[in-house]
Amino acid sequence: MMGRRGALIILEGVDRAGKTTQCKKLVQALQKNGRPAEMMRFPDRTTMIGQMISSYLEKKTNLEDHTVHLLFSANRWELAPLIKKKLQQGVTLVVDRYAFSGVAFTSAKPGFCLEWCRNPDVGLPKPDLVLFLQLSPAEAAKRGQFGVERYETSDFQQTVQHRFNQLMKDPSLNWQVMDATKGMEDLHQEILRQSEAAIAEAESQPIKELWK
Ligand code: TMP
Repeated sequence: MMGRRGALIILEGVDRAGKTTQCKKLVQALQKNGRPAEMMRFPDRTTMIGQMISSYLEKKTNLEDHTVHLLFSANRWELAPLIKKKLQQGVTLVVDRYAFSGVAFTSAKPGFCLEWCRNPDVGLPKPDLVLFLQLSPAEAAKRGQFGVERYETSDFQQTVQHRFNQLMKDPSLNWQVMDATKGMEDLHQEILRQSEAAIAEAESQPIKELWK
């Protein structure tokens, strides 16, 4: 008989919401509870495709908007076999950004609609839980200046937030909105609670396909 599979848990949110810190804390807490867990992040800048994306984000190169969207998606697809393998081995994956960032960021650009943006990611491994770390633009601004990478301006981030709001209306996904203005530890406990529930639920289910 097949063993129990791991869960695919995604953390999404606008910049400064504390996604990366919370991903790391979640992996540590799950491991402490005796659950095999690993962290991944997108874009994964270590692959050849990831290096092209990284250079674009650092504004060292320019890429046409559709092209870079497809590269972000290709970066997820190139890791999809590994994601499935890990899940089947019983490892829970905690992922910093996924297809939702892909859709929210590109569709915030002029001339892009959600549907076109979603298409390349249709069929990727479907997350068992998508935690959205909610932070108002005013709160984000209090946490300091945006960095120098592409997309790091408050106007653009506000449009991205609107796109995320549209994506969260999709009832086929297990979206959970977390209040990121809470203290780091309180937020962590809430994320851990949601994750443990999703892991228990996923154990006996097959891996499904996103947006299919
Ligand atoms: P990072 O700072 O978490 O490494 O994210 C890099 C930037 O890339 C961030 O501004 C969000 C953006 N992004 C996309 O535009 N499309 C995507 O598919 C992903 C995963 C991120």
